[in-house]
Amino acid sequence: MSQKSDAIIELSDVHKSLSQNKVLDGLDLTVRRGENLVVIGRSGVGKSVLLKHISGLMKPDKGRIHIEGTEITHLDDTRLTKIQMKIGMVFQGAALFDSLNIDENVGFFLYRYRKELGKEKIRKIVQDKLALVGLYDVLDLKPAELSGGMKKRAGLARALAIEPEILLYDEPTTGLDPITADAINDLMIEMKKRLSVTSIIVTHDMVSAYKVADRIAMIYQGKIIFQGTPDQVKKTKDPFVHQFITGKSEGPIPY
Ligand SMILES: Nc1ncnc2c1ncn2[C@@H]1O[C@H](COP(=O)(O)OP(=O)(O)OP(=O)(O)O)[C@@H](O)[C@H]1O
Ligand SMILES: [Mg+2]
Repeated sequence: MSQKSDAIIELSDVHKSLSQNKVLDGLDLTVRRGENLVVIGRSGVGKSVLLKHISGLMKPDKGRIHIEGTEITHLDDTRLTKIQMKIGMVFQGAALFDSLNIDENVGFFLYRYRKELGKEKIRKIVQDKLALVGLYDVLDLKPAELSGGMKKRAGLARALAIEPEILLYDEPTTGLDPITADAINDLMIEMKKRLSVTSIIVTHDMVSAYKVADRIAMIYQGKIIFQGTPDQVKKTKDPFVHQFITGKSEGPIPY
């Protein structure tokens, strides 16, 4: 297979300014079909903004974004929605709708775009996805009745509910207890192995990164400045990457 057809997500020369701040500044990134790519970088560097571009929630000022060969930056809403139904996004905050119960939240896209499945079938799918993330008997609860970690897992179940080809995880283990966090790590590995899902995982949690990543990419000043396997990351002499992964703040800060 050629490198080209291997690519499921391709960003070329993507620029985005927000509040007069250049967040993405000519970013290039290729994600291969079936891989788990972990994205790291300091707070505010543009990791969430990057995921929002891939999911079509934000449009670049300049540059191209291809998903399975389709350029998405100029698509009309109907065609964009079709692509978006292949992409599950786990938001940094759980981003649940307060007024809807957990069934309606997790099944949100199915109730809206896959009505033909019928309510009963959708409720069953929702229940199955909730079980995958370790949540039971919560269908009729409102988000306010769940703990922070439970909300986070419900957000993950919502992304899984559409059985996406691509999963975008924004800090999926942050704020979870170590056991639940590791269960989420295992789930991210399982999604790849069993269902060949392609994932981009934004995290500050290097234990999780090393465990789930095929490759790790680091963002700095609007670009990807380093990409490599977990082993290459551990061994790198690159001062920016090294400082990030060791978390050392002494000495001159290279930022
Ligand atoms: N909707 C928006 N409007 C204006 N500025 C925004 C918006 N979204 C993000 N930004 C700005 O873009 C920059 C990157 O934000 P982003 O949320 O992508 O950071 P991040 O790398 O995800 O950080 P963290 O690790 O803290 O989540 C920040 O300076 C932020 O203030
Ligand atoms: Mg973020």
